[in-house]
Amino acid sequence: MTAAGSTAGDPITPLERCFEVEGLPQYAEVPSRLRRLYGGGIGFRPPVLVGNAVASVDGVVALGPGHPSAGSIISGHAQADRFVMGLLRACADAILIGAGTLRETPGHRWTAEQVCPWAAPELAALRRALGRSPRPPLVVVTRSGSLPGGHPALDGDAVVATTRAGRARLRAEHPRLSVLPTAPADHVDLPRLMGRLKARGWTTVLCEGGPILIGELVRAGLLDELFLTVAPTLAGRRPGRPRPGVIDGLELLPRHRAALALLGVRRHGSLIFLRYSIGSGPVAGSPRAGRPPTRPPLARTPPTT
Ligand SMILES: NC(=O)c1ccc[n+]([C@@H]2O[C@H](COP(=O)([O-])OP(=O)(O)OC[C@H]3O[C@@H](n4cnc5c(N)ncnc54)[C@H](OP(=O)(O)O)[C@@H]3O)[C@@H](O)[C@H]2O)c1
Repeated sequence: MTAAGSTAGDPITPLERCFEVEGLPQYAEVPSRLRRLYGGGIGFRPPVLVGNAVASVDGVVALGPGHPSAGSIISGHAQADRFVMGLLRACADAILIGAGTLRETPGHRWTAEQVCPWAAPELAALRRALGRSPRPPLVVVTRSGSLPGGHPALDGDAVVATTRAGRARLRAEHPRLSVLPTAPADHVDLPRLMGRLKARGWTTVLCEGGPILIGELVRAGLLDELFLTVAPTLAGRRPGRPRPGVIDGLELLPRHRAALALLGVRRHGSLIFLRYSIGSGPVAGSPRAGRPPTRPPLARTPPTT
């Protein structure tokens, strides 16, 4: 090992663990190379839905139409971010994305080895040791059923959650795709979807965005944790050209305060890796909240004087 902590063959030095709360779950099965590079262990207590996103310092997560693969651009293709993505994917029973992310990420497969090929053997070993399938199944949520033809992520064991109209379109355009039973509504009932995934034994689910889906999950009180990488760059915004942050389509402050608690902070150079727990139920008054809260509702922000 070198003074900086890297070992020959590792393209990155280990992440520096700056802070971590005590008592976080830790998988005993994490191979030593992954543990060393992550700066310690990792694990989840199922059932759990974990979000992962990378944002610029000015809070931009998506660059808008015409800028595909925004996450990679925002992170600057940083190997340390790709490593954390790979590690999270290796831990997941399934990966959940919105159709917008699928449409804007051509050629991607949402596997651990694609995003971090240099750690592929250890990432695959971790999946095996955790009893996961070799590749996490991809779950795509779409209202419209408008999914790109020939996208490699739709090969194999991808499943789609959609509406009645979406199902009709998918039948015509993607007859081989596996579509979950649909509800007669204009949106996918996300609490019910999570129940369906749980019934398949997919109890550790990673959501890789995008902002609209993450917003819907927060609205429904379903997101348990957020892994947020802050990339050392400024993306900027122009009037009339929206560039969403981690959530879109859901306005919280000033009426509702989402209570996030910091679970961990890691650093790699000028990249910061934050891990939060999100302690909130469905957003009160939301037309999509649907079910009674299972956790305390989001706190109302007290009025300022
Ligand atoms: N920086 C990062 O870490 C990161 C991560 C992921 C994505 N991104 C970027 O984010 C952008 C895409 O974001 P986005 O917010 O537009 O897309 P998104 O959240 O991935 O997808 C939105 C779409 O998901 C479907 N959807 C969401 N909730 C639904 C529900 N309850 N019922 C039915 N359908 C539902 C709808 O699909 P239909 O439109 O088909 O009806 C909706 O338009 C891309 O630029 C991507 O590169 C960045």
